[in-house]
This record gives sequence, C-alpha cells and structure tokens, in this order.
Amino acid sequence: MAKLIDGKAFAKDLRGRIAGAVQELKTKHGFTPGLAVVLVGEDPASRVYVANKAKQTVEVGMNSWEHRLPASTSEADLLALVEKLNRDPACHGILVQLPLPKHIDSAKVLSAIDPAKDVDGFHVVNVGRLSTGQEALVACTPVGSVMLAKHTLGKLEGLEAVVIGRSNIVGKPVAQLLLAENCTVTIAHSKTRDLPGVVRRADLVIAAVGRPEMVKGDWLKPGACVIDVGINRIERDGKARLVGDCDFASCEKVAGAITPVPGGVGPMTIACLLHNTVKAACAIKGIATPAM
Ligand code: GUN
Repeated sequence: MAKLIDGKAFAKDLRGRIAGAVQELKTKHGFTPGLAVVLVGEDPASRVYVANKAKQTVEVGMNSWEHRLPASTSEADLLALVEKLNRDPACHGILVQLPLPKHIDSAKVLSAIDPAKDVDGFHVVNVGRLSTGQEALVACTPVGSVMLAKHTLGKLEGLEAVVIGRSNIVGKPVAQLLLAENCTVTIAHSKTRDLPGVVRRADLVIAAVGRPEMVKGDWLKPGACVIDVGINRIERDGKARLVGDCDFASCEKVAGAITPVPGGVGPMTIACLLHNTVKAACAIKGIATPAM
C-alpha cells in the first residue's frame, strides 16, 4: 500500500515557518508584508477560497486586504484598482481571483499587475522568467506540488516525470519546475496516444487534468510517486464528494506514495501564496528572503 503524502500537515508546518519569517521582517527590518486579494462577483467557491486566503494571511502575521467588487464592475474600474494596488507601497502581493465575469478580459487584467507583486505567478514576465531559469514568482499549486514531491522522494534529479495536463495554471509551470530539478519531463494531454503507456514510464506522476478519477492503478509503474492536483466535485451514492484526477482506490495499491484528495496538494496552494508574498515583499525591499 502506498504511503500517504500529508499535504495538510506539510502546509501547516510551512505556514509556521512563514510566520517566523514575517516576525523576523517586522523586528529586523521594520515592515510587514501585505497581500491584497480582489474578488469580482459572487461565485460561491471563489468566496470560500478568498475568505480562506485572507484568514491564513492574517494568521501568519501579514497585512491582508480584501476587495469585493460586484459582478457588474467594469473592466476599466478593475484595472484602476489594480493600478492603485501597484502603486501602494504597503501592498507587496496582488491576487485577482479567477474566473472573472465574462465581460472582463482576464489576460488584460493579469498583465496589468506589476510582475514584482504577481504572487499568482500568472504574468507573462514571470512565466518567461521561469521558463528561462531566472528568479521568478511561480504559480502556487505547481510550487506546492513540487515541494511535496521533493519532501517524499528527496532529490528528483534523473527521474522520469509525467505531467498529465497542459494548462497555464498547473501543467506547463509544473513541467518547468521539474525540468529545473533535472527530471526528464513528458507533458501528456487529451490528444496523447496511449496515455496509460506513457504514464507507466513515470517515477513521478503529476495529474492535473480536471477529470475525476481518470488515472487508474494499472497505469502506474509499481512504486511510483503520485501527486494528484485534481479537485473534482462528484456525486456518489447520493452524496456530494471531492475526488482527484486519480482513482485513489486502485492507485494506492500500486503507487509508492500518493497525495489524498482532499488533504494533499489543496492545502499547499494557499501556503505557497503566503510564501510568494514574503518573497515578493523582500525583493521589493531589496533584502534577502529569510529561510522558510
Ligand atoms: N481560482 C482558482 N484557483 C486560483 C488561483 O490559484 N489563483 C487565482 N487568482 N484564482 C484562482
């Protein structure tokens, strides 16, 4: 049976280290990192995410600002708020919660965020820096996924890694991070021929397709490490359930280690957002980031 990778415990530990770094910045450097989160509209899932982000930001000792705007907000008004936050010296991180209402061009809004404050790592400047091996703010879920893989396997160098999914938010950046760790990386997607055969080569599988329980145990190399990024809401036996992109029951029989859903990658995302905010604040202030 696979070892369970406890993302909840790892994220809690990481938040403790971040709180220590924030305290050090306050006492030694006299400033408090601050994160602004912008939510447009009333999407219930987004409201829960944003509330959790704000709560955890405060818990590690940072400043937190929540901007809740009505769904009818114009693109111009949202851009004006982003500009205001770009200029605000107390704000070191800006996150505009996605998805945005349809009348707003998300790409335009994301590219209006100062890359130095882009704690989501979605700005093309940060994406380009990551892919050219430069210092960058990197998307939170990919960073959290690779942290869990390193925590489980130690060095990743030389491993065969298969990433399933090619989204800008997870698949592509996680592949770049694994390449930087000297893995041999394959990005598989919906048009990949013989997906089970490709996945079976992997020492490390990162599943980020958004299809409930797609990856089956007999697709895995015995002993493989499986990081399941999927969070899918399904109904089973009349009950609402959260499941990953991997069929946990069959995968845990073959894998060496696997992240559960929930409690695996999910809790890492906000912890990495706080991590990025500390990193951004230190870079803006021109000081070294404390160890976290
Ligand atoms: N919506 C769901 N996940 C995310 C995220 O990581 N960042 C942003 N900005 N919006 C999201």
